Amino acid sequence: MRIGILGTGVMASALAEGWTRRGHHVLVGGRSQERARAIAARLGDAVEAVDPAQVGKQSDVVVIAVAWEGIDQVLDLAGAGQGSLAGLAVIDCTNAVDYADGLLKLPSGSAVEHIAERAVGSKVVKALHLFAGASWLAPTPTGQPKRTVAMCGDDEAALAIAAELVRDLGGVPAVIGGLEHARQLEDVAGFVMRLVAAGHNPVTALPSVDRSQD
Ligand SMILES: NC(=O)c1ccc[n+]([C@@H]2O[C@H](COP(=O)([O-])OP(=O)(O)OC[C@H]3O[C@@H](n4cnc5c(N)ncnc54)[C@H](OP(=O)(O)O)[C@@H]3O)[C@@H](O)[C@H]2O)c1
Repeated sequence: MRIGILGTGVMASALAEGWTRRGHHVLVGGRSQERARAIAARLGDAVEAVDPAQVGKQSDVVVIAVAWEGIDQVLDLAGAGQGSLAGLAVIDCTNAVDYADGLLKLPSGSAVEHIAERAVGSKVVKALHLFAGASWLAPTPTGQPKRTVAMCGDDEAALAIAAELVRDLGGVPAVIGGLEHARQLEDVAGFVMRLVAAGHNPVTALPSVDRSQD
């Protein structure tokens, strides 16, 4: 696939590396062309630095990996309001979380629904916001199950594309429902942060429910 990434930071760089290892072609664009070029230079021919306005036009799927403060600016640079992402699966891995208290900065709704409103005609999926980007570059530790990537969205074809890209990173996709579940899914990031701040490993804070033998 040709995967467009809007964003040029740590997450964009890690995802680009993970997907190019699986043979995908990645186009990276953000407000800093210099940072996009640095990712391309680090990862070689499979990654191209492009103007953000070209990301939608040249990609089969678009991933948004910017700091929440930059979301509107990057969508504007991408021409999302003019329909540049229309018809495309758009995977949102942002966290609109206040890092001080772990609460979502949006009084209602969700980050991915905000993106859906601004990126007219796009088919949004919330996914990949919980695990560190770097975790996709190392093999799953021996004896541990693969990471489950919970995701939600309203478009089946977009969810299928997101699921394929999650598998390519070594994760197991799990669709938890439509966009009405987006805020719940986004809140998990803050929940994880609060557990870590309280000195606990989040993985120990959830019940173990094995239904594989049902
Ligand atoms: N890092 C991870 O492991 C990880 C994991 C899961 C989810 N995420 C999420 O992924 C997103 C990006 O995280 P990151 O770690 O890659 O952050 P980062 O390294 O700090 O990069 C931030 C990105 O957002 C852009 N940006 C920041 N403020 C902006 C503004 N006002 N207008 C336009 N662009 C702006 C930056 O552009 P400039 O370079 O021009 O500043 C850069 O492309 C965040 O929402 C984060 O919660 C990150």
